[in-house]
Amino acid sequence: MHRRLLSVLFGAWMGVAWAADKPIEVIALDRKEPVQYEKDIEPILRAKCTVCHSGKELKGKFDAGSYAGVMKGGSKGPVVVPGKSGESPLVHYVGKTQKPFMPPKDEEPLTPQELALIKLWIDQGAKPPTTVLAKPIVTLSAIPSAFAPARAIVLTAQGAEVIVGRGNQIHVYETASGKHLRQFTDPNLKEPPAAHRSLVESLALSADGKWLASGSFQEVVIWDFATGAIAHRITGFAHNVVALAFSPQGTRLACGGGAPTEDGELKLVDAANGAVLLDIKNAHSDTVYGLAFSPDGNLIASASADKFVKVHQALDGKWVKSFEGHTHHVLDVSWRHDGKLLASAGADNVIKVWDFESGEQRRTIVGHGKYVSRVVFVAKTTLIVTTSGDRTARTWNSENGGAVWQYNAASDSLDAVAVSSDGKWVVVGGTEGLARVLDGKTGKLLHELKPTDNSPMPPKP
Ligand code: HEC
Repeated sequence: MHRRLLSVLFGAWMGVAWAADKPIEVIALDRKEPVQYEKDIEPILRAKCTVCHSGKELKGKFDAGSYAGVMKGGSKGPVVVPGKSGESPLVHYVGKTQKPFMPPKDEEPLTPQELALIKLWIDQGAKPPTTVLAKPIVTLSAIPSAFAPARAIVLTAQGAEVIVGRGNQIHVYETASGKHLRQFTDPNLKEPPAAHRSLVESLALSADGKWLASGSFQEVVIWDFATGAIAHRITGFAHNVVALAFSPQGTRLACGGGAPTEDGELKLVDAANGAVLLDIKNAHSDTVYGLAFSPDGNLIASASADKFVKVHQALDGKWVKSFEGHTHHVLDVSWRHDGKLLASAGADNVIKVWDFESGEQRRTIVGHGKYVSRVVFVAKTTLIVTTSGDRTARTWNSENGGAVWQYNAASDSLDAVAVSSDGKWVVVGGTEGLARVLDGKTGKLLHELKPTDNSPMPPKP
């Protein structure tokens, strides 16, 4: 479809006037049987809330993906008072009688029927599910096209092509021109074409360019990069797979993730046959957000919500070292080319540089105004590139902490970065759903990598 026409249609669709800020009508339910969480409440949350309130996406610190999360509440505390719907902030948020109205305007509000069910469930005591769910829920229904963050970006070995995860799609572009080349599509997900049912959370490309791995909710797919065919699908992950890294030899794939506040997950997979070779239990006590192999491939460094960077042996999973110093989640980790230094990025807004041998902290680099989402050493240099929730991408000298350049024209958080092996290109992406190719020397914008016709741009906030 023509892009212009599509954006007009899309605009018209977005323009559907939900009576955005009007209270939802209160109706009485004619219902004898008790309200059941898993049958009556969960489907509502899944349809209208979990896109912003599950997995890594926990707006207002509220997790609608599990009963425990709902009962725990948000950043202002519990939102459900069992037996008392009138005193439960949740009812007021979703009934649009108290701010923040949920879901926010532009999103489809609850129906009077749904609101009545939630009220009745609370009045009946906000009982837990009767059948225990094995796994917390993360939205698997079609992802609204307005929510298509670019959370994962990788470049091919020489940097000629850039692969961008955007929403549940994977697109390939020519780096030098920004031209769209192709898309990776699961043959079972054609309308619209998608690589995963849920969001693409992570990407990795083997050094020989043979395998592309993509991580999503409870699964990793290994694609034949040349043909776009699915070679292996690895399932059985606890939650979103938010970190992926190939060993330098390209034979092993490290996969990281885990359910929030539960043990982190760190598994090593055989890239050739998709078999899980190693499951490093208790590597971390919370979600693993970042992974990096040492340059010789013998060690795997991991960054976690448990505030630690740890290093394990890649072959047998034996613990080697822990690096402690961040005061909040550690979101990413990278090795310098010689394996002597590690850099880590934290939700405490800082970058830390560590000496691997001694385990000592070399320095803390401050400057970002919000969480630092990604950190990567530039090829054979001492430079590091970071992206942040403060909407900037920056380059620093890891030797003295000095700032080199800063890109600050993004209009939302930046959560993904890739740097070409010669340092020529830095590609960044984030919540806007758009990837940008920057000049690696200056940080100047070279191209915006636009979505294709089947994936319109989200409206500007
Ligand atoms: C498009 C994203 C989006 C959707 C969909 C959404 N929310 Fe939210 N929600 C947010 C944001 C952003 C915040 C934080 C805003 C604030 O606190 O002002 C938030 C905050 C909350 C909070 C925490 C308030 C507090 O601070 O304690 C609750 C509870 C909540 N939402 C419930 C829901 C429920 C229930 C649904 C579904 C009916 C829903 N949300 C759908 C984006 C969303």
